[in-house]
Amino acid sequence: MGRIATHGLLIIVAMSFGIDTVADGEAEYDYRHGVMEAIGGHMTAMVTILRKGVHKDELAIHARGISALAEISPGIFPAGSDIDKSEALPAVWTNRTAFDAAMVKFVEAAKTMERAAESGDMAQIGPAIQGLGGSCKGCHDDFRE
Ligand code: HEC
Repeated sequence: MGRIATHGLLIIVAMSFGIDTVADGEAEYDYRHGVMEAIGGHMTAMVTILRKGVHKDELAIHARGISALAEISPGIFPAGSDIDKSEALPAVWTNRTAFDAAMVKFVEAAKTMERAAESGDMAQIGPAIQGLGGSCKGCHDDFRE
């Protein structure tokens, strides 16, 4: 009875923090790795377009790609996915409020970049890509090894 009550309390605590524990942490890590690499790939493509002037018409495609991936990013760090090879710091799970705030900034910066890229207006695109890059760094500085 006591154990069941304690277990129930733990579930309530876990739910109130909004973190689902997963059975297959390695699969979750592999998925996260793929998503982050895809985000990084779009970012490299955009920076190359802007610095070297190639494929200018394709900027918005990459901006939309990051924006779509940003939408799912809050869900790719479930508890239990902090396996050995992960470079995520424990703070991702112990300081969730700050982590979620960094995530919100990223999602907003990605949307701003998407709008800027679709407008084609360089006066918007410059600050937008800087803001987006800053949102990656803002999280990596505090939450990645
Ligand atoms: C809210 C936090 C957060 C934001 C925002 C964020 N990242 Fe990450 N990123 C991480 C964490 C944590 C890891 C380490 C994941 C792991 O190893 O488990 C990571 C890993 C990566 C990796 C390495 C792939 C891997 O899994 O080892 C790349 C590349 C990357 N991020 C690119 C980016 C880019 C580019 C942006 C912005 C456009 C970005 N990230 C935004 C937290 C974030």
